[in-house]
Amino acid sequence: MEAQLESLRSDAIAAILACSGESELEQLRVRFLGRGGELTALSDRMREVSKEDKPRIGKLLNETRSAVTTTLDERKAALVAVQEAGAFSGIDVTLPGTAFPVGALHPITQLMDRATAIFRRMGFALADGPDIESEWHCFDALNTPADHPARNEQDTFYMPDGRLLRTHTSSIQIRTLERVSPPVRIIAPGAAYRRDEVDATHLAQFNQMEGLYVDEGVTLGDLRGTLEFFFRELFGKDAKFRFRPHFFPFTEPSFEVDIQSAALGTDRWLEIAGCGMVDPAVFDAVNERRGGRVLDPEIHTGFAFGFGLDRLAMIMAGVPDIRLFTDSDQRFLSQF
Ligand code: DAH
Repeated sequence: MEAQLESLRSDAIAAILACSGESELEQLRVRFLGRGGELTALSDRMREVSKEDKPRIGKLLNETRSAVTTTLDERKAALVAVQEAGAFSGIDVTLPGTAFPVGALHPITQLMDRATAIFRRMGFALADGPDIESEWHCFDALNTPADHPARNEQDTFYMPDGRLLRTHTSSIQIRTLERVSPPVRIIAPGAAYRRDEVDATHLAQFNQMEGLYVDEGVTLGDLRGTLEFFFRELFGKDAKFRFRPHFFPFTEPSFEVDIQSAALGTDRWLEIAGCGMVDPAVFDAVNERRGGRVLDPEIHTGFAFGFGLDRLAMIMAGVPDIRLFTDSDQRFLSQF
């Protein structure tokens, strides 16, 4: 029995090492270890072994089985490795790989997303409106008189049908108030269009972010607190502010906001936003359209603000020419 086990072991190992394919290897596994296999036949004969020989022969039997099993596994791994190496033959793995360039969001989109995230934390919802706008939404409802220079054909792109490309995102204030009743708290980022001569600081299409908050008891203090918090989140806690009285048709009182911050790379005051308390004339225009007194100037007050994103992005990134934002030049864009 001992001699038979020894010779089975050496036969099996020799056959396994000599075999050259996976199916042949499987046949060998069945031949030696399978249910009707040679090793199984030998273990069946353990019954005939005398009691004192049993431990020794049993141990030998186990050792033989594990030696054959291990050799089978190792041979299989070796055969697979040879096959895989074959699959790579003809490929020079030392050649440089193919680079997959990773894109990024446009710097203005990045700023828009950051600004939106800050206002959303303060409870402002995102609002939208059409780029091609009616004169009523862009001007009349915003209390802009018929002879206001912004309405001039030299400043505004008019469609043949009398509609226009919105000159500011303030029209979204009106779009929102037409549909939603107070409390209203929205921001509206989007494109605006003016017939400006294109140069280093002007494009005919640019980007703004509008804000509007209408509720009972909204104050100028709320406006200041909101804008100061927002710009400090954007530029850092050191930012200083100046609210300069100004005029906008749709707010009363109105202000221009100047900011001074190390993050802007200059110690000069920069004018960055317009804002004010919503003029009751805006409420009246919307009420007339809605046919009711949903916005009651005796009860409701609100603040509004608007600022340009392009110039902010230019200042923040030290970009000297606004046209770089729309030139689609990889050498510029890949820096962001
Ligand atoms: N619409 C103004 C502009 O384009 C910016 C602005 C000023 C928006 C004051 C406002 C505001 O909502 O209250 O220059």
